[in-house]
Amino acid sequence: MREPSSLHTSVLPAEVLSHLAIEPGMRVVDGTLGGGGHTRLLAGAVGPGGLVIGIDRDPAAIERGARELAGLPVRFAQANFCDIPEVLDALSIDRVDRVLLDVGLSSDQLADDTRGFSFDSDGPLDLRFDPTEGEPAWRLVNRMRPESLADIIHEFGEERFSRRIARRIAAVRERQPIRTARDFARVIVGAIPRQTPPPRIHPATRTFQALRIAVNQELKSLRIALQRIPTRLAPGGRLAVISFHSLEDRLVKEAFRNRQTWDNLTRSPVEAGDDEVLRNPRSRSAKLRAAALAAGAGAE
Ligand SMILES: C[S@@+](CC[C@H](N)C(=O)[O-])C[C@H]1O[C@@H](n2cnc3c(N)ncnc32)[C@H](O)[C@@H]1O
Repeated sequence: MREPSSLHTSVLPAEVLSHLAIEPGMRVVDGTLGGGGHTRLLAGAVGPGGLVIGIDRDPAAIERGARELAGLPVRFAQANFCDIPEVLDALSIDRVDRVLLDVGLSSDQLADDTRGFSFDSDGPLDLRFDPTEGEPAWRLVNRMRPESLADIIHEFGEERFSRRIARRIAAVRERQPIRTARDFARVIVGAIPRQTPPPRIHPATRTFQALRIAVNQELKSLRIALQRIPTRLAPGGRLAVISFHSLEDRLVKEAFRNRQTWDNLTRSPVEAGDDEVLRNPRSRSAKLRAAALAAGAGAE
C-alpha cells in the first residue's frame, strides 16, 4: 500500500471512531472521502470482513483514494452524499451500520491552483467540488444581478458588508469580467472598510464561503442527506456529521432534534482539544454531532 499523498489532516479522528462505535464486520459509508484519512481509519476498524464505501463529489479525491487505499476493504463512488441510497442500490446493499459526513472543503482542493478555492490562486474562480457539474463561480459573479449576489453573500457568508461587496463586483466587472480567485479576493478587499485591529480571518473568507456554498448547493445537499440517510441505516445504525460553520451545524442540530428518527448522542457538539488545534489549525472550527437511529425509525 502506498503512503498517503493527501495534504489533508483528518479532524477529530479519535472522536469520530468513538462516537461511531465501529465494530469489525460493519458496513460503513464515508460520504466525504476527501484525502482518505477517515476512510483509512474506518477501514481499519471494520477489518477485512467489513466494508467502507468512500463517496466524494470530487473525481480527483476518488481517483487518489482508489490508488492509495487499494488493498483495504473500501469501494468508491463519485457521487453527492445526498444520493447515498442510489450509491447503495448500485452496490446491491440495502442498509449500512454507520455513516460519516465531514462536510466542506479539503486541503487538497484548497491547494489545487486550478480550482480557485484559495485567495491567492491565479486559477479560475471555479469553486465546484465536481468540476463537471453546475456553474463555475466566475460565471455566476459575472452574470448575477448585484441584489442577488448580495443576498447570497449575506445568507451563506453571514457577511455584513454584502451590499458593498456586490456593488463593487458589479462596478469592476463592467470594465473587465472577473476570472481568477486572486482578482476576486482583491475586489472584495477593496470593497470592505479597513478595520483596526485587522480581522483574524482574511477579509474575503466569508464571501468565498458564500459562493462555494451557492455553486455546490451545499446546504441543500446536507438537508436532503439528513432526510434520506435514516432510510438506509440498519437498526441501531449511527450517523456522525462534522461541520465547519454555523449554517451547517444548525441543520444537523435541528435534524437530530427529531426524536422519532434520532437518539441524539451529542447534546453539545464535540470540538477539537487544544493539542489538535495546535497541530491542525483547521480543526478549530470543527463541530462533531452524532446520533443513533431511534427504535422503529428508518422505514422508507
Ligand atoms: C473536509 S473534506 C473530507 C476529508 C476527509 N474526511 C479526510 O479524512 O480526508 C470534505 C470532502 O467532501 C467532499 N464533499 C463536499 N460536499 C459533498 C457532497 N455533497 N457529496 C459528496 N462529497 C462532498 C469535498 O469534495 C471534499 O473532498
